[in-house]
Amino acid sequence: MSAALSVDALSVVYDHFHALKNVSVDIEPGESFGLVGESGSGKSTLLRAVAGLAPVRSGAIRIHGEQLVGAQRSKAFYRQVQMVFQDPYGSLHPRQTIDRLLLEPLAIHGISDSETRIARALDEVGLGNGFRFRYPHQLSGGQRQRVAIARALIVEPSILLLDEPTSALDASVQAEVLNLLEQVRRDRKLTFVMVSHDLGVITHMCERLAVMRNGAVVERLTATELAQAAVHEDYTKNLMLASKGFVKA
Ligand SMILES: Nc1ncnc2c1ncn2[C@@H]1O[C@H](COP(=O)(O)OP(=O)(O)O)[C@@H](O)[C@H]1O
Ligand SMILES: [Mg+2]
Repeated sequence: MSAALSVDALSVVYDHFHALKNVSVDIEPGESFGLVGESGSGKSTLLRAVAGLAPVRSGAIRIHGEQLVGAQRSKAFYRQVQMVFQDPYGSLHPRQTIDRLLLEPLAIHGISDSETRIARALDEVGLGNGFRFRYPHQLSGGQRQRVAIARALIVEPSILLLDEPTSALDASVQAEVLNLLEQVRRDRKLTFVMVSHDLGVITHMCERLAVMRNGAVVERLTATELAQAAVHEDYTKNLMLASKGFVKA
């Protein structure tokens, strides 16, 4: 069986800056994979490259064995792969109701039965139908992130790319949204690639992870190894020390 997502010797260069250098990761179907590393280490760039949003210089990206060519991503790609960002304000148009925001991806993909699907999507993320005709600014941060998750899930993707999906939320709300993500992953047998600077979040949510520094992978770990502080690189130990509440180093 081929990997859900395979990144092979990927390099990304912005102008003259090498943001990713020869990065390889393989993520199995149904796996939850974490990316950690200091700010600027290239975590977002890796997700953006998969989504066709970063200037790939060399290397290959494959989804279920099929290589993506160039930076253009097909509609079929977005039915399989969806992204959730840290700041849902950026991805939720402020002048559109939640209903419109959820309808748009259905229209793009020619998916019928929108009434039922929107109701089900809101229900799945713990927001009732009462939220349907509200605007993003009428929602709390956690509720907005639930809408962003509903919007990603409504086209029934198999892979979610999650870039610091709960970093902007208060701790208690963060835990609720993480639990929701874990629930939908189990229910839908999704593959996750999750970026977080919080190693506690990654040990909680992910089975394996890659540690990034200066655009390269410096260490690969299982969540158990991370939780037991069975790490090799001093850089990783320092990340553990710097991660709030993660004191096992
Ligand atoms: N559009 C861009 N143009 C130029 N440099 C960029 C751009 N996006 C990111 N970078 C640089 O690439 C590096 C990696 O960024 P990023 O992937 O966002 O890191 P992370 O998500 O790990 O914090 C950083 O040094 C950042 O400044
Ligand atoms: Mg980032």
